Amino acid sequence: MFYGVDYYPEHWPEERWETDARLMHDAHMNIVRMAEFAWSKIEPKEGEYNFEWLDKAIEMLAKYDIKIVLGTPTAAPPKWLIDKYPDILPVDSNGFFMGFGSRRHYCPNNPHYHEYTTKIVEAMAEHYKDNSNVVAWQIDNEFGGTCYCDNCSAAFRIWLKDKYGTIENLNNSWGTVFWSQTYNDWSSVISPRRPASSPSLLLDYKRFMSDSFVKYQKMQINTIKKIIPSAKVTHNLLQFNQINYYDLSKDLDFVSWDNYPVRLSYDTTFKISNLSHVPAMFHDIARGLKKKNFWVMEQQSGAAGTNIVGRQLKPNEIRLWTYQSIAHGANAIVYFRWRTAVFGAEEYWHGILDHDGFPRRRYDEIKIIGQELKKIQNFLDDSSVDSEVALIRSFDNEWMFEIQPHAKDFKYIDQLKKYYKYFYDKNIQVDFINLYDDFNRYKIVVAPGIVMVSDEIAKYISNYVENGGIFLTTFRCGAKRWDNRMNDTSLLGPLREVFGIDIEEYGGIPANEDITVKVGSDFGKALSWYDVIHCKKAQSLGEYASEYVSGKSFFTQNCYGKGKAYYVGTIPDDKILDKMMNMVVKNANLSKNPITVVKGKVEISKRAGKSGVLYFLLNFDDEDSTVSVNVQTVDLFTGKTVSGTLNVKPMELKLLMAERS
Ligand code: GLA
Ligand code: ZN
Repeated sequence: MFYGVDYYPEHWPEERWETDARLMHDAHMNIVRMAEFAWSKIEPKEGEYNFEWLDKAIEMLAKYDIKIVLGTPTAAPPKWLIDKYPDILPVDSNGFFMGFGSRRHYCPNNPHYHEYTTKIVEAMAEHYKDNSNVVAWQIDNEFGGTCYCDNCSAAFRIWLKDKYGTIENLNNSWGTVFWSQTYNDWSSVISPRRPASSPSLLLDYKRFMSDSFVKYQKMQINTIKKIIPSAKVTHNLLQFNQINYYDLSKDLDFVSWDNYPVRLSYDTTFKISNLSHVPAMFHDIARGLKKKNFWVMEQQSGAAGTNIVGRQLKPNEIRLWTYQSIAHGANAIVYFRWRTAVFGAEEYWHGILDHDGFPRRRYDEIKIIGQELKKIQNFLDDSSVDSEVALIRSFDNEWMFEIQPHAKDFKYIDQLKKYYKYFYDKNIQVDFINLYDDFNRYKIVVAPGIVMVSDEIAKYISNYVENGGIFLTTFRCGAKRWDNRMNDTSLLGPLREVFGIDIEEYGGIPANEDITVKVGSDFGKALSWYDVIHCKKAQSLGEYASEYVSGKSFFTQNCYGKGKAYYVGTIPDDKILDKMMNMVVKNANLSKNPITVVKGKVEISKRAGKSGVLYFLLNFDDEDSTVSVNVQTVDLFTGKTVSGTLNVKPMELKLLMAERS
């Protein structure tokens, strides 16, 4: 197992490097990622390479038994290159070039950039091909961004030609007769700058941009593997949605992602039990990309912030987030960053050490974790997370909602979070899969927001339910074709039989208003959207209870073949969702967890290995909790046998190993 840190030796005097390496070693670290932004240090002037500093840093770390993940530095093209070819800078949707002075300032379709990318990657691979300290390569850093430059227009045309064959097909698919947008020939097609608004065009552009980065990454991977065939490559993903991560991951040997549970884009709160489901979900998404364990390439180790500073991580908090990562399938933990920078855009993005480089509480905690992990590292290497429930993340549908949110502030990912949280709170493990993956391994498949459903996918869904699967989807399912045009069939199209309902009408619920809903004797609220459902064969399990739709169904169950299909026509509040999902889960006959929560809140996750099943009990809450352990286990921290009732204190972690049943 790898345990380590993101390190920027180029930011610190060379005399300090040995102290850093020794402190890392003392904290039981064995891996460092570096160089991912160091282009101007490696190639200060065109063609003049300087690897001396990097060689020295690698050697110093090697002296302390620390291996290296080497980043290709292409997320930050140097000034000399931009000065030579300013057209590398991406162009925004208004047609303006981005300025120099930050990062990610390149167009993925720029031929000059391709040339210089290949040169720097080749030079690095050549230089390090025989260096056994380099154990993996990270391509670029957190791919993302959109460009509307002329090179992109040209590449877009090629992409479209490949997809549509003829310009007539393109016109038909996009419906360009609308507002006189018909193209007479390929050469007249361009990137959709503002205010382009055709949903099909905009979606194709998102797909094209995603493919552009996949291709750009592939170019780098090929360059490395031509020189080092055995190289292991990865890329550090973020929770971004600009790239289809299923596609991007295909070319990687392993997936990694950057986990900042307490960053400003999550709800900032001291009460971490309110947000612990969010990183858990992104871990599960990362694991689902290759259906394999993954790395956390940046694990938060201090207060986050650029110009505004977030709160500091509380005592024991790093430990909980670290073990949560592992519980969900991380096989390597790399903290971001070693020492907080004294200059640059991230002076306030805190690392393990503060600006003064002095080890304090956060370092001490990370050192303890490093020691502890030795107990489980062998087990982790060949263990997996197995789930009976799958949630679908479809990037195409996520993009569709970005183009047409349907309701104010609606976000596709929030629906995933909502349904995920139900399972998380019940300690039911979830896999994330693609629409095209095999559903049959799962007892329940939940697919919120799949508005675009191709005929092929409709068939998967029907077959899955027919063969005994439990499938749940939400409003707008199948309303659109895969090319983002509306279907001209009645809603649900080929899936009408499966759900046994008709959607009589629908509408958006005005912002700041809601409709009352009722499930059994419980009342709650519906937000954002309402489908008015007519049950043909299906049974109504929940109805609206206010407005002109009072008495009409919003939640249905249909028995189809050996399975059941559920349809949710609105966004119910969490309390009502809980009731609804309990009904769904009741039918699924999920395996019983031998460890259950009796009082309070505890995350219970497990990894199964050859030698046993490891349970992670994580109390993110500030209240005591009690669990009931109905299996013989050994507490790995005390060495004692544990079963029966057990107390898990606030911010406490327990590792319980059971035999394989
Ligand atoms: C990202 C990047 C890092 C750094 C951190 C903190 O995830 O990959 O380079 O910027 O965030 O902001
Ligand atoms: Zn471009």
